[in-house]
Amino acid sequence: MAANDGRLNGNRAQPPDRSERPHATHAWQPRHTRYAHLTGWGIRLPERIVTNAELEAVVETTDDWIRTRTGIQERRIANDRETVTLMGFEAARAALNRANVLPSAIDLIIVATSTPEDIYPSSASKIQDLLGATQAGAFDLSAACSGFVYGLNMAAQAIRSGSINTALVIGSEVNSRVLDWTDRSTCVLFGDGAGAVLLEGSDQAGGFMDAVLGSDGSGAELLGIPTIGTTNLPEGRQMHKLHMDGREVFRFAVHIITESVRQVLDKAGLSLADVDLIVPHQANQRILSAAARNLNVSEALFYSNVHRYGNTSAASIPIALYEAEREGRLKPNDNVIVVGFGGGLTWAAAALQWQSVQERAPKGLAYRLSQGRRELQYITAFWRARALKTYRRLEAALRGSPAKHANLRESAPAKGKEESARDKR
Ligand code: COA
Repeated sequence: MAANDGRLNGNRAQPPDRSERPHATHAWQPRHTRYAHLTGWGIRLPERIVTNAELEAVVETTDDWIRTRTGIQERRIANDRETVTLMGFEAARAALNRANVLPSAIDLIIVATSTPEDIYPSSASKIQDLLGATQAGAFDLSAACSGFVYGLNMAAQAIRSGSINTALVIGSEVNSRVLDWTDRSTCVLFGDGAGAVLLEGSDQAGGFMDAVLGSDGSGAELLGIPTIGTTNLPEGRQMHKLHMDGREVFRFAVHIITESVRQVLDKAGLSLADVDLIVPHQANQRILSAAARNLNVSEALFYSNVHRYGNTSAASIPIALYEAEREGRLKPNDNVIVVGFGGGLTWAAAALQWQSVQERAPKGLAYRLSQGRRELQYITAFWRARALKTYRRLEAALRGSPAKHANLRESAPAKGKEESARDKR
């Protein structure tokens, strides 16, 4: 291809003199800084509770071993209908209700997950369709258990730049489907569930403050799920099954929580004394105790619900935020640190101000009316999806190939003729 076909600069021989170019009044300008506030949160957990005692019948383990080594007492396990998409959708609905926002107002949906039904279409696109979020872009984010905090940062930065106003960040996982149920060193640790938060832009200061993100791919083999592109599966590993070097991951986790909490506090201009609650990824109570010791803070500063749900990967932080608020551990304007770590290796920590804008969800008639409008949008979304599918089928049947008049063979001999004419000359 020619480097310059004359259309871009107008004159190929004489490149334009940029110093004389008039100022473009429409040129992109950084917009006035906005703030990204957390205004809604919701969760969806599978109904089935599986206790440690039940696992004693599955692998050679004991309730005592699991409790003392991890703090986990029970976890939720999804049934066949409880997928990343459906649990994420339910969590998102709850977050929209909490914020009193319509699905049609959402600009962006990010789903952090390592256990989607499909590589693509993304779970985010399917949730976008179920919600009827017709104005939203949507994508899945792969950063293992750090994924939710990565997503939070992406969404908050897009809001702060003025590029979007409203974003849903969802963590949703069905770990039970990627566990090797004969491997006692991993299958007792994980559980299923989903959590979502809604972020909204505002001129009022507060909300998302700052974040640090990190990755160390040299530790890739310590924790992972080999999938479709794997060509050389190491011995002892299974396709689509989680493998982990528990001891190494433990060491990494304690170190990286300590480091990334310090770094994000520094970046946000806060000290540990300013922090009301640290909401970490829920993997193991002993990891949290060790990190609290390293930071020289009370273990009570670290929120934990790992005993109820085990490790729900990217879903654990939004589930923990939701429960911390419900238990009265998070109050408006509290300073919160969220910190995730996991496969990659990856890590991410963010400093937030919790619920820093006035609630605008009037309970009562006005709220019930907007709740009705949301329900109407979900019903419309259901029928719109069906109508679009039917339309596509009909269009395909009536019109046939969309490129039936295009004939590559016609142009190929033409080019051939030109070339042979040139050859003759
Ligand atoms: N029940 C009973 N015994 C078990 C067991 C189980 N479920 N799982 C492992 N064991 C055994 C091991 O086989 C080993 O036996 P051995 O000494 O005869 O070889 C023994 O318990 C001790 O194993 P070890 O690996 O030293 O235990 P640990 O104290 O390190 O705890 C983990 C193991 C997995 C709980 C711990 O390493 C851990 O939590 N790591 C981090 C995992 C994590 O958080 N991953 C996700 C990050 S996002």
